[in-house]
Amino acid sequence: MMRQTLIDGYAAARERLRGTGQEHLLKFWSDLSDPQRVELLSNLERIDLARCRPLIDRYVRQRPVFDPPQQIEPPNAFPAEPDAKLAGQYREAMQRGTAAIRAGRVAAFTVAGGQGSRLGYDGPKGGFPISPVRNASLFRLFAEGLLGTERRYGRRPRWYIMTSPSNHESTLASFEEHGYFGLRRDDIMFFSQGQMPAFLPDGRIALEEKHRIALSPDGHGGSLTALSASGALADMRERGIEQISYFQVDNPLVRAIDPLFVGLHLATESEMSSKAVTKADDLERVGNFCLADGKLGVIEYSDLPASLARARNADGSRRFDAGSIAIHVLDRGFVERVTTAGSSAELPWHRADKKVEMIDLATGQRIKPVGPNAVKLEMFVFDAIPLARNPLVLFTRREEEFSPVKNAEGADSPATTRRDMIRRAARWLEACGCTVPRRADGEPDALIEIAPSLALDAADLAERKNLPRSVARGETLLLI
Ligand code: UTP
Repeated sequence: MMRQTLIDGYAAARERLRGTGQEHLLKFWSDLSDPQRVELLSNLERIDLARCRPLIDRYVRQRPVFDPPQQIEPPNAFPAEPDAKLAGQYREAMQRGTAAIRAGRVAAFTVAGGQGSRLGYDGPKGGFPISPVRNASLFRLFAEGLLGTERRYGRRPRWYIMTSPSNHESTLASFEEHGYFGLRRDDIMFFSQGQMPAFLPDGRIALEEKHRIALSPDGHGGSLTALSASGALADMRERGIEQISYFQVDNPLVRAIDPLFVGLHLATESEMSSKAVTKADDLERVGNFCLADGKLGVIEYSDLPASLARARNADGSRRFDAGSIAIHVLDRGFVERVTTAGSSAELPWHRADKKVEMIDLATGQRIKPVGPNAVKLEMFVFDAIPLARNPLVLFTRREEEFSPVKNAEGADSPATTRRDMIRRAARWLEACGCTVPRRADGEPDALIEIAPSLALDAADLAERKNLPRSVARGETLLLI
């Protein structure tokens, strides 16, 4: 029975591959065991050859060149703190956002499908232990953020988590093992994103093993299609969820749901809103919010001409100063619109040249590359911004909301994120009148952690009873 299924599967796969330039994917068939053959056939089913074909011509066989817009201008953006003119608008937005959260119209959405290759952690990135005292994982901190939101606004937001086929099971297992971090299983919907094959520069699809196609997730921009394909959008519609609060799995400082941000999004009838931080330096490796030929969008740091990256305003401030931190609010209706079949609003693809261990298609031997040997294609979520009506940018304070864990060491590593968590906890305590010891270099001289379920910001913390009046030098303090 199994044999016949395999014979039929092989014949069907050969037929599908005929004339596509990808016939080599079956080249090692005779070397494979039956279970390996089953795996290869199921891999083949996962790739959409018709979709890949034009992409190979456009992005793989040739190196796409960035086509700069005619005019690049700085965007209008809402400041982190309102001036006198904006104070009323911010107050109203805050009320409006709060009402939407209370009514259950806002859901949290974490994209956790990335491979986390720079961090090199053995497990889903969200399971990485990050908090300075408890070593709580990223997932736990977000879950506690949602519990904090419930405590503060009286409604527990629903949580959508996007995984990828390679970390889906381990992500589920991590939640299961930890009792859903205090949430209910039904509060969360997990779904997997799509995958794309890696290609050789000549356009052939790479084999990671003789029986396995080199597949990787299709980028955080794939989250929009995945929201639709997984049924998450339908689930939202049924529950009356209108706004999606999007954030990445690697930034534990994020406010999972921010009433001001949601409120401004609603008040301006924006379909996709974004948070920005002031850039750390002219050439910081973050995307730049720009008006490109009049349309708001993000230009990657590698594509923004250096003369613009370094440009100054008359008062000496940086002209292009709004760095993208991948925190967005999206209207559910907007995601529905851009993912409707036949919609012309396909996100563009980005080429990345990567090192991929693969099978040498001529010899069948394993290749351990020393440099980039393959092309991966990804979509980026910020490419949806120009498709949105009235997209807005809101500045937030980096030290309050952005410190991603990207690398094992150095910048944006667990060490810098823990440092930033301690700094923020110390500032919040000081804002509540507590004395925090500081070293000569100004760093807090204590290990401090505040659970997001206890406080979402300094003002929230101020409402807690029995806060310490002072922290001792060298103390380890956990507020939970
Ligand atoms: P990064 O671009 O930092 O990639 O993703 P990464 O996969 O986490 O790490 P490296 O580059 O392999 O070291 C930013 C965010 O987007 C998510 C990641 O999980 C992270 O939250 N992401 C990225 C996806 O959900 N899917 C993708 O295909 C890519």
